[in-house]
Amino acid sequence: MKILVTGGAGYVGSHVVRALKRANHSVLVIDDLSTGSAAFAERNGVELLEGDVGDAAFLDGVFEGRGIELVVHCAGRAVVAESVREPDRYFAVNTVAGHVLLEAMRRHGATKIVFSSTCSVYGLPESLPVTERTPTRPVTPYGSSKLAFEQMLQGYARAYGFKALSLRYFNVGGAATEGDLGDLNASGTRLIPNLIKAARSRRVFSVFGHNYPTRDGTGERDFIHVEDLARAHAQAVARLEIIEPLRFGGALNLGMGRGHTVREVLSEVETQLDETIQIREVPRRPGDPPALVADPSLARSVIGFSTQHDLKSIVSSARAFEERERQPGGLLLERERLLQTKVASGEARLRFGEAVIKAGFVEQETVDAALKVQRDRDGIGDPHQFLGLILLEMGAISSAQLIQTLRTVQS
Ligand SMILES: NC(=O)c1ccc[n+]([C@@H]2O[C@H](COP(=O)([O-])OP(=O)(O)OC[C@H]3O[C@@H](n4cnc5c(N)ncnc54)[C@H](O)[C@@H]3O)[C@@H](O)[C@H]2O)c1
Repeated sequence: MKILVTGGAGYVGSHVVRALKRANHSVLVIDDLSTGSAAFAERNGVELLEGDVGDAAFLDGVFEGRGIELVVHCAGRAVVAESVREPDRYFAVNTVAGHVLLEAMRRHGATKIVFSSTCSVYGLPESLPVTERTPTRPVTPYGSSKLAFEQMLQGYARAYGFKALSLRYFNVGGAATEGDLGDLNASGTRLIPNLIKAARSRRVFSVFGHNYPTRDGTGERDFIHVEDLARAHAQAVARLEIIEPLRFGGALNLGMGRGHTVREVLSEVETQLDETIQIREVPRRPGDPPALVADPSLARSVIGFSTQHDLKSIVSSARAFEERERQPGGLLLERERLLQTKVASGEARLRFGEAVIKAGFVEQETVDAALKVQRDRDGIGDPHQFLGLILLEMGAISSAQLIQTLRTVQS
């Protein structure tokens, strides 16, 4: 089949492209490269058209004369905390641009679509494991923006005969067995890359919430290897012809069906890297459920979904990718340098918190935790004034990083 993968230069999308190519499909990628990398398309040997999925004229040019039969829609913004700060961007890309895509598909007679959805549509589920019948009550703009698109798909399926399947991923981790595709996002919100980074840089790692009603008090999540996830897309594409998604609600959970706590993942990373990670227990993040574990049995029966990897191989493949791309000329190194250059040039009016995140030294959550410490301490003055010192005191940044960031914000 001739398949268009939106966001095919991203983390999940590039693995999906590889799985589809392995299943002998002809694949074309569109991506605006906002978080993706052209190198992934190149490594997959696939044509990449650079553009915005919300640009109708661009999409007309993509569909025109190419005979695209099916779209796998992976493009989107996918950082939960960012969606809380910038909901406009999330609804614009995940929902509004999605609508532009559906209209382009209608104009060009391509009515089959597999969509990258998320377990965030469930919000804070009252019981586990999460099935597709668990009520969808998202608690973040990210979850709402994805659910809105799912609902749009339902409407298009009923009214215009679309065959549409939403795949609700749980926590995706790991990298390609070949070591050449993986997670490049420097946003610092994903547990496994963050733990690997903390182990390598001997940075203190913030554990959010330590008194949840779980085995060891830390949050529990269902991690699925990105290759298992990608294979599920190829299976979904193969079955889409014969299944009737409207009969079962149009959505399938993709998870392992078992959870690992933050401490369990941490200890797996420590074992594999032979490092001890120093942790700091910080309060729970609002909107974080204590545990989120999928019941993937519907996906098993509908598309034949199965998993071949476990937590060990998720961590070992992520680690191998990280090692490879941190070498000179590597994509991760290049991305971090780019961020630092951006901060160092031009964006001089950045506040300390923004600058230290953009430099890739800490994640947003750590800045939020430091701001809270500061507010609790004196509650007066500009909360960004002494933030650097608190981050230093917390062990989240080194003194060299403090000085480098101060130079940026003061220049
Ligand atoms: N990684 C996860 O744990 C996870 C979990 C659940 C759902 N998802 C969903 O999977 C999809 C892929 O996520 P990912 O983790 O690979 O993130 P990613 O940022 O690596 O991939 C997103 C891709 O979409 C592209 N993109 C973004 N906006 C675009 C636009 N307007 N036009 C064209 N391309 C655009 C980016 O450049 C990038 O290549 C997202 O839709 C996300 O919501 C991811």
